[in-house]
This record gives sequence, structure tokens and C-alpha cells, in this order.
Amino acid sequence: MESIPVSTSEICSEVNAPSIPASGVDAGVALQGTTRKRKQRVTGRVTIAQRILSRLLIALSTPILLSEFFRDETGKEYGVGLFTKLKLVYLMARNRKRVTTGSHFLEHLLMAIQILKVPKSVPGCVVECGSYKGGSATNLSLVCELCDRKLEIFDSFEGLPAPGEQDKEHMLIGLRRVHTYEQGAWCGTLSEVQRNISTHGRISVCSFNRGFFDQTLPGFNQPCVLVFADVDLTTSLETCIRYLWPLLQNGCYLFTHEAQHLEISSLFFDRPWWRTNLKCDAPGLIGAGTGIGLLPESGGYSSDLGFAIKNPIVETFVEDPQTGGKIRD
Ligand SMILES: C[S@@+](CC[C@H](N)C(=O)[O-])C[C@H]1O[C@@H](n2cnc3c(N)ncnc32)[C@H](O)[C@@H]1O
Repeated sequence: MESIPVSTSEICSEVNAPSIPASGVDAGVALQGTTRKRKQRVTGRVTIAQRILSRLLIALSTPILLSEFFRDETGKEYGVGLFTKLKLVYLMARNRKRVTTGSHFLEHLLMAIQILKVPKSVPGCVVECGSYKGGSATNLSLVCELCDRKLEIFDSFEGLPAPGEQDKEHMLIGLRRVHTYEQGAWCGTLSEVQRNISTHGRISVCSFNRGFFDQTLPGFNQPCVLVFADVDLTTSLETCIRYLWPLLQNGCYLFTHEAQHLEISSLFFDRPWWRTNLKCDAPGLIGAGTGIGLLPESGGYSSDLGFAIKNPIVETFVEDPQTGGKIRD
């Protein structure tokens, strides 16, 4: 693991960074092969009217979708009140315009809720695996400062590793889309990320772990209260889960930003994989296939974000007998 190197060679160029369409939808191609025809690449072209409507819907639905964020109890232990919350929403929304990012500020806010809800007595840092230009890390650093927690950022800072066979294409069935990957895509250099966080977030709470996950994560041993894995590839996610799940505190959340990918979401239900690698049951994934319903899309509300909870306290769940009208004895 490399610790906080300040000067770094700019090993990747902007050319490697895929452009993010205005709609926030990744570029991709449809199925190909003998019975599969290559379809047109997604252009992400949206009309001004669609954009205005989308923003209006987001503005109207945010207070409902994130009602938990504005509840008094959320952040109370950290002295985070309504004014601080409104300021956080403003800063996060503003940063979306200032730092190139592959995720949406509402997704960052959803994670902020979980960080603010972790009891102060539970020790641990927040971990982000996959930072690109530092957009999500910038916003997470603002929340970490409010909660006096460290943000550990892991990335190669030279983009994706070469995808193996299982990661050449990912299937997003709900979106009728196939994502393709190549080495070096989604590259943000360490100096770019540090510059963005310094300017728009809180660099003082951040630690940077440079290198591919299979080199950096085995040496990491801090307890975590939230993990955000935005790593595109199944192999990368497997490494993150293998090393970070044991460090995640009970009741805490591991978020993935690839909840709509069949290859990624199925990993969270893969009982043999979890038994073999972590000696525990597969936790499942809230938002599998569609993502948490945060952002208006043509088929309804969705997002790229999904989460698994480590050992949720089932005893606190409400029992809801499904009698179908049958009167119980
Ligand atoms: C989609 S981008 C992250 C986007 C970012 N979270 C945001 O919201 O803007 C994926 C990132 O994962 C990193 N990554 C993927 N697999 C990796 C691996 N095995 N080791 C290190 N970094 C990896 C890439 O370098 C890239 O920065």
C-alpha cells in the first residue's frame, strides 16, 4: 500500500476518461455475436424540456426520497442540525457542477444519511474504492468532517485494470444496455483527485491508498462504518468485498454503484462465493437490478446505487404475517 504520495506522475491522460453524457447515463453497446446485433452507442442526447422536467422532478421528490436525511435524529449525535444539513445539500449539489463525477449527488446524500446515522460510539472510517476524478470522495469528505471520521480512498489512480473475460461486458437488463470496459478507462490521477478535494471538499480527513486493490487492501485493517465500492469490474468488487466486509461494523452498509449490473448484483446473492471466501451467508443487495429509486428515468425512479447491510439486527424487524385474509387461530 502506498501512503499519501503528494507528487505523482500523470500516468493517464484525459483521453482515457469516458465522457459522461448529460443524462448521467453511461455509454454502452447492445448485445453482439451470432444472434446478437451491435446497436448504436448511447449518445445521452436529452432535450432542454426533458432536462428541465428531470430537474423539476428531482427538486420536488428530493425532500420525500431523503426524508430520513432531514429527520431530527439523523446526525443529532454529531450536532448536525437542519442548517448544517441544508448547507451540505447545497455544497454537494454545487460540487456536481465543479468536479467531474460518475455518480449523482443524491446518491452521495443517501450515503451521507447512513454515515450520520452510525452511532458515535461505533468506531471506524469511511472507505471509498474507486474515485475517478474525486467527485464522490469530495462530497463524502464533507460528511466525514461533520462526523469526525476519516475517509480512506483506494484507487489505482491510473484507471481500470485490464478486464478479464467476465468483465468485458456487463448486462444491464432493466436498461436494455450492455456496458463494455477497457484498461485505463475512468482514470483520475492522484494529483487531480487531491486538487479537487482540496478545493471543494475537506482534504484534512482524507487518506490516499494508491495501487490496485489486490495490492493495497490486504494491508488495510481499520474498522469501517461505510464502504462505497464504485469499481465497475466484478473482479475489483470481489477484492473489495473480500478484504472490507470483515472490517465493516455490524449493521453498517456496503454500497455498490453497479447495482443495475447483472454480474455485480448476482455476486451479493452468490451463496457459495460468500461461504468460500467469507464463511458467511450472502447478504443480498437492496436495489439489485434497478438501483435505489432516486432519480427519474423513463421507466420510473432508479439509480446506480445498491447496498448490502452487514449482519442487520433481525430481532428489530417487524413481523408481518402474510395471511392473505385468512383469520389466524
Ligand atoms: C467509475 S470510476 C469511480 C467514479 C467515482 N466514484 C465517482 O463517483 O466519480 C471507477 C474507479 O475505480 C478504479 N478501479 C477499478 N478497479 C480497480 C482496481 N482493481 N484497483 C484500483 N482501482 C480500481 C478506477 O481507477 C476508477 O477510478
